[in-house]
Amino acid sequence: MSASPESVTRDDIIAANRKSWDEAAERHRSHDQYAELLAGFATPGYSVLDATLTERLTGLGVEGKAVAQLCCNNARELLSVKTLGAARMTGFDFSEAFLAQARELASVGKIEAEFVQTEIAKIPAGYDGRFDIALVTIGVLGWMPDLAEFFRTARRVLKPGGHLVIYESHPLLNMYDDRNLTVPAYPDESYFRSEPYRAEGGLDYWANQEYEATACYWTFHKMSDVIMSLLRSGFALEDFEELPHNVGTHDHLENQPQQLPLSYILVGQKEG
Ligand SMILES: C[S@@+](CC[C@H](N)C(=O)[O-])C[C@H]1O[C@@H](n2cnc3c(N)ncnc32)[C@H](O)[C@@H]1O
Repeated sequence: MSASPESVTRDDIIAANRKSWDEAAERHRSHDQYAELLAGFATPGYSVLDATLTERLTGLGVEGKAVAQLCCNNARELLSVKTLGAARMTGFDFSEAFLAQARELASVGKIEAEFVQTEIAKIPAGYDGRFDIALVTIGVLGWMPDLAEFFRTARRVLKPGGHLVIYESHPLLNMYDDRNLTVPAYPDESYFRSEPYRAEGGLDYWANQEYEATACYWTFHKMSDVIMSLLRSGFALEDFEELPHNVGTHDHLENQPQQLPLSYILVGQKEG
């Protein structure tokens, strides 16, 4: 990891990140986790959604609704939403290589879903106002150099009164290494850093293996920035809860006496 050069632009960041994600796809595909998804979706009723997200989506009345997932990756979560009775599911992601996996998992599960290759901010206008629920899960917001731009897009694709559900790793985890409790993730850096980080070593977090990869850029976005940006982008905050369980790669921080907030769930409603 290293601090990003001053000259990097928003477009440079998006282009580098897209390349880096495309490079990672074949590695993810070769791991046991992907084989488990293939086997899972071959079984009717398979879902990777945990109780927190299942209850929240059910509570929002997901049955019969149109659901979008922003940055869906291989769409394991979006495809699982089918088990809750969603009527229409659309996944957006800029990595065609990961969307190919999403299509494969959908086909194995005989699940009807649409996948659109696009940078999130450039979701075509034809999708404006089409969704009841927009879902954002684990490991998405840090890829967005501009949170306001991201929330404006989420608002744009929702119907009036539609809900944005964010179920994410807590930004405090930017301070902790993925595997080792005693090692800081970004030595000498602050939770309050606002410049994006230039990260090397690739995105194979499933195997925790480094490889020669296109550098990518990650932005911390402290918790207050997420909430204030959401409010300033035309959402009402309907619910927000910090949670003690891990939803990503920090399971070693669970069950510590300090009980750090490891994840959060936030529900916003489109105003106007
Ligand atoms: C960590 S993955 C999401 C993983 C997913 N929540 C899961 O647990 O399976 C982040 C995804 O965001 C996508 N992404 C990152 N920046 C993006 C952007 N600006 N536009 C569209 N997709 C983007 C990447 O291609 C990647 O598939």
